[in-house]
Amino acid sequence: MLAVQADGGAVQTIEGLATNGELHPLQRAFRQEHGLQCGFCTPGVIMASTALLDLGRELTDEEIRHGLEGNLCRCTGYENIFNAVRSAIAEVSA
Ligand code: FES
Repeated sequence: MLAVQADGGAVQTIEGLATNGELHPLQRAFRQEHGLQCGFCTPGVIMASTALLDLGRELTDEEIRHGLEGNLCRCTGYENIFNAVRSAIAEVSA
């Protein structure tokens, strides 16, 4: 999306996820599950994952993988990232 397309909209970034110094459940889960990639990929995946959490329900593994498929990285596998997202969804949905 071009920046001009967001004119008048709300833009949330990784820096805005923590609240009063407390990490967002996704940030905690990524740290716990070692779902870390580079400084481009990690924020991108976490922000894409917030949309999955915002659905407010448990998701199937296929739904999680589909929700993350727009984040492309060939540096490593996605298993730790997948585990982190699944863990955060379980925590928030409980
Ligand atoms: S970890 Fe970011 S491009 Fe691969």
